[in-house]
Amino acid sequence: MTNNTILVTGGAGFIGSHTVVALAEAGFRPVIIDDFSNSQQSVLEGLKQILGYEVPCVAHDCNDRQTLLDLFQQENVRGVIHFAAFKAVGESMEEPLRYYRNNLGSLLTLMDVMLETGVSNLIFSSSCTVYGEPEVLPVTELTPIQPAASVYGNTKQIGEEILRDVDAANKALKMIALRYFNPIGAHPSAQIGELPLGIPSNLVPYLLQTASGLRQQLTVFGDDYPTPDGTCIRDYIHVMDLAEAHVSALQALGQMTGAGSHYDVFNIGAGQGNSVLELIRTFESVSGQALNYRIGPRRAGDVTAVYADATKAREQLGWTAKRSLREALEDSWRWEQMLRAKV
Ligand code: WQD
Repeated sequence: MTNNTILVTGGAGFIGSHTVVALAEAGFRPVIIDDFSNSQQSVLEGLKQILGYEVPCVAHDCNDRQTLLDLFQQENVRGVIHFAAFKAVGESMEEPLRYYRNNLGSLLTLMDVMLETGVSNLIFSSSCTVYGEPEVLPVTELTPIQPAASVYGNTKQIGEEILRDVDAANKALKMIALRYFNPIGAHPSAQIGELPLGIPSNLVPYLLQTASGLRQQLTVFGDDYPTPDGTCIRDYIHVMDLAEAHVSALQALGQMTGAGSHYDVFNIGAGQGNSVLELIRTFESVSGQALNYRIGPRRAGDVTAVYADATKAREQLGWTAKRSLREALEDSWRWEQMLRAKV
């Protein structure tokens, strides 16, 4: 039998855990390394419920060369999907060194170990944040990158540059960076989903906690943007669609041969822009209840609108988002209700 073990760093996180499911369903053997600094052990139980077996997991910081070396050897790792990173935009502005050290340090260590052990396939989590406030919509991979508006965003930009520079220096690694748009939703089984620590800063987790009574009211950050209803526009993508993009990217890496570049980058979005108010309306229809919200001031750092042209991923990875905004919110709401029933 061919060895198809894929190391998933940050595999207990929101996107990581759903990708573990997609990998297993596609016949890969996922192995997790996660330090649980922003994730919970209960995710492993959820994965077990879905897959019917325990996914191997090392509870450790992945910015540790020896741990990675041991893991690569013991598990016979053949490819890596690197999710492990801090991701809170506001926090990154307060603790830049911690963000640079963690997000870039782990990437450098990982790539060192890959080169040392001859493991060539790497998928890197990037973000649509690299486009900043784009002049033309939707954004393609050729849309100019803007100076990062946050330290978090900068770690993603620098991460992409590291991949590009390593590719220019030698062809030992095959690498794909995926630029995620706004992931929402949960596994339809409601066994895994997003688990924000503390007060959520992202729209859908805050909205869910408001609907379930944990928060009193959602504030819509500004309705005076130059958009049809005045609220910001984003590309909300179901996390299972996003997870499946990693499987497609991994398969595409296998085909990356020859003397040319072994690094490529893809937008992973639904390809549709929705406003904050549209999302709220869709959620109200899904949940059958009115949401308590008010219009508040703009939030610093928010861009007016960004959504993906995902043609390149369709043509070259054979991947396209299949699930609707409504389906994503149905799955999110099922997950939230299950969570609240537990506590
Ligand atoms: C979406 C929209 C808000 C909360 C961020 C990161 C990005 C990424 C995903 C991370 C915006 C509005 C939000 C609220 C609101 N990567 N909103 N009330 O800012 O598009 O992207 O998360 O891991 O890099 O920047 O996502 O969910 O915070 O906001 O009105 O309480 O909802 O203004 O228009 P964002 P978000």
